[in-house]
Amino acid sequence: MVESHNARVRNDLTPWWKHGTIYQIYPRSYQDDNGDGIGDLAGIVKRLDYIAWLGIDAIWISPFYPSPLADGGYDVSNFVDVDPRLGDLATFDALVERAHGLGIRVVVDIIPNHSSDEHPWFIESRSSRESPKRDWYVWRDPRPGGSPPNNWICIWGGSTWTFDERTGQYYLHLYHEKQPDLNWRNRAVQQAMFDVFRFWLDRGVDGFRIDVAHAIMKDPELRDNPPSTGPRSHRDFGDFDRQLHVHDRGHPDLHRVYRELRPILDAHGAMAIGEIHEYDWTRWASYYGMDLDELHMPFNFGLLTAQWNARSVREIVDSIERALPKGAWPNWVLGNHDEPRIASRIGDAPARVAMMLLLTLRGTPTLYYGDELGMRDVPIPPERVQDPWALMNPDKPAFNRDPARTPMRWTAERHSGFCPGETEPWLPIGDDVAAINVQAQRDDTRSMLSLTRALLQVRRSNEALSLGDYAPIEGVPADCYAYERALPHSNAVVVLSFADEPRELTLSALRDMRVAASTHMDRDDLSKDGHIVLRAHEGCVFTP
Ligand code: NOJ
Ligand code: CA
Repeated sequence: MVESHNARVRNDLTPWWKHGTIYQIYPRSYQDDNGDGIGDLAGIVKRLDYIAWLGIDAIWISPFYPSPLADGGYDVSNFVDVDPRLGDLATFDALVERAHGLGIRVVVDIIPNHSSDEHPWFIESRSSRESPKRDWYVWRDPRPGGSPPNNWICIWGGSTWTFDERTGQYYLHLYHEKQPDLNWRNRAVQQAMFDVFRFWLDRGVDGFRIDVAHAIMKDPELRDNPPSTGPRSHRDFGDFDRQLHVHDRGHPDLHRVYRELRPILDAHGAMAIGEIHEYDWTRWASYYGMDLDELHMPFNFGLLTAQWNARSVREIVDSIERALPKGAWPNWVLGNHDEPRIASRIGDAPARVAMMLLLTLRGTPTLYYGDELGMRDVPIPPERVQDPWALMNPDKPAFNRDPARTPMRWTAERHSGFCPGETEPWLPIGDDVAAINVQAQRDDTRSMLSLTRALLQVRRSNEALSLGDYAPIEGVPADCYAYERALPHSNAVVVLSFADEPRELTLSALRDMRVAASTHMDRDDLSKDGHIVLRAHEGCVFTP
């Protein structure tokens, strides 16, 4: 199945994370190797050929560390090992070796903001006020009357403070009460966590996705957050949105931490992409660092906030491009394990246009596993819900992240080749499997999988598409969006229609250009005079 385009010689001067495409794998859901219904590292190893065939440059693996699973593995009880249900360190090493052999880089998730309450550090910290690790977490006395030390609210609802009877103090947790926040103002914590980075670097990883990168430093005085007038991100988070999160998130001291981390990464040629939920683009851009000396890329969740129409999408792209510091490299995502799937958010045909957008904008794309098949959210029966966020908010179905975390579909067989037919997978596979699986789509030249693969190939063979400048093109119908990607000696033009009906365009930029990929996968016509008719929800990439 592996073909040679992964081995193509590239411009060695450009770091891989600039020209490459990242593919996010939720390890419990990719491939079960040992037949217990849970995806594992050995399963990923088996599927690396597929990933190489698809044309991916790097995989980002969501947490696979030992964990009591109070938050899908984002509650880690040992930062430097593999959860026995998912494998062991030897399998991880084999994964890195095999991936590298196929030209695929490996990015691991790292969770510096909090540990599990079952991590030995927290067990020790909790044991007494005198514990040498007491200050590794954030402990405070109750306010007079016994209430929590401040007004901070968990994104999942309720106070961020839990009272610990034994020592009579509250501890801080921005997320689940089983995810106590580490105290990054303590140098020993910082050093211990930097050692975790070093541990994985020594095992050969090529980069990190840093969880909650915008919140590891809090206000040193832990002051109350002021009230807010409304939601400030892409979703309605209820009570959480009634505060301005100025003291629990986005503290300026974060920058110092990333400036100290950067040389550790650079010494290994590794990159960091940080989870930054910041929707004021100037503040978002600050995570690159004044001298581009902090995160290589703060995740850009702009497209998750878009109304899916040409104007809103273009506005977001243009604002990101404007906000970028000089020399900073952008990145784009359409979905991840925390969001409803793109095909469910906007529909199947628009999701194909979205895939073309993702893979042709200037910046590193991160593609969520299964989106290359057009996987949709899978309904989860109440008795099978796993996501703590959903369990804590039974009245808010939108809070359930399980529907976007269901097993990858490989075949149309029972359980889709994810796990043996007689084993129950950890989350349901879904009903719409017949057409949405790798086997069915691999041989269908017009499938979403064929489209994704074709786009990745065009992106690799046309340097302007991966590295060229971005310039929007004016003079297109209001429900279309066009842009040029250009280098001094090559270019490409992308035209996307968000309309339910055909649209005609005439653009001088299209003159003598040929369709290198259409979302409909059925044309390669030449536009002699710059004229093109796009069908409903059609996008085309043109190259000379
Ligand atoms: C962001 C992760 O993407 C999400 O899945 C997790 O629940 C929180 N961080 C807490 O770690
Ligand atoms: Ca397994």
